[in-house]
Amino acid sequence: MIKMRVLFFDAKSYDKENFDAYKEKYGFDIKYLKVKLNEETVDFVKGYEIISIFVNDTVNPPVIDKLIEYGVKLIVLRCAGYNNVDVNYINGRIKLVRVPAYSPYSVAEYTASMVMTLNRKIHKAYVRTREGNFSINGLMGFDLHKKTVGVIGAGRIARIFIKIMRGFDARVIAYDPYPNESFARDLGYEYVDLDTLYRESDIISLHCPLTRENTYLINRESMKKMKDGVMIVNTGRGRLIDTIDLIEALKDKKVGAAALDVYEEEAGYFFEDMSSSIIEDDILGRLLSFNNVLLTSHQAYFTKEAFRDITLTTLENIQSFLQGKELENEIK
Ligand code: NAI
Repeated sequence: MIKMRVLFFDAKSYDKENFDAYKEKYGFDIKYLKVKLNEETVDFVKGYEIISIFVNDTVNPPVIDKLIEYGVKLIVLRCAGYNNVDVNYINGRIKLVRVPAYSPYSVAEYTASMVMTLNRKIHKAYVRTREGNFSINGLMGFDLHKKTVGVIGAGRIARIFIKIMRGFDARVIAYDPYPNESFARDLGYEYVDLDTLYRESDIISLHCPLTRENTYLINRESMKKMKDGVMIVNTGRGRLIDTIDLIEALKDKKVGAAALDVYEEEAGYFFEDMSSSIIEDDILGRLLSFNNVLLTSHQAYFTKEAFRDITLTTLENIQSFLQGKELENEIK
């Protein structure tokens, strides 16, 4: 019997290893493509009814028109966020499934490690000692104890991050349009409005999904409301921050430090080895020139546990579709 084949875009060697390890018991095969899905690559989908994508594939109206023309029936996201898919334009014409939740500990723990690395300047100390420089000049940080951490979006990931911050005895305040008072009581944080969060926080960490409404939430105006020297942490999505405004605020020392695991124009760079190329993105280049910016390549989710969860949910999502079952992880 010929097995149904599913086309994976933006597949890395670790995707292939993981999916190949688990896919045996499923009744379909996977064809792995390294390229990202966009207007230039959409023709690869010819002959496939099911495709799988990741965070930096582009599913915009021209791509969607082609997917429909080629008969694609299901788009399987190997991630939680779906800001890269124009769901309104699809309007139910192709089914969409995602991995709504996987080890939220992965991202929460990573966020905490970014805060501590940046605060205690471990990234600089590592380089110094390896070069035989044992001076600690310029490496002074601050105690987290009694500092105020402001969390924007108090969902699954944020609640674990809050627990970790509470472990440092930091005060935590949160903004979320859908507050949950029982979580707040249990974890020991309080909900505030955004202006209060900006005004009172020493560290601001972003954990909300990217939507049309909160695009560039962190911009010149919102940063003006923040404490001088605030630390901004983004493991959410790049476009939550207006990077040009952030660069200005870093130059003015309004923002004292920034930990960024995501970047608004990350698609051309993140997840790729660009070490032999010139960085043509001047904004990214400028960000990388600040010694108080810690920038990583969208790796907060990258733990064994999270990756196994993503793999298994993705395979189950495909299987459910093929068996005509209800799609519990459908995006509507
Ligand atoms: P979640 O859905 O459990 O929580 C999101 C929270 O944000 C909800 O409580 C929601 O009410 C709130 N929210 C929605 N709009 C908001 C707004 N405009 N302002 C403030 N809060 C708002 O999601 P989860 O699992 O905690 O993930 C959060 C985000 O983290 C994802 O949407 C994704 O963009 C990002 N993420 C990043 C990863 C990485 O590797 N860097 C990996 C996984 C997720």
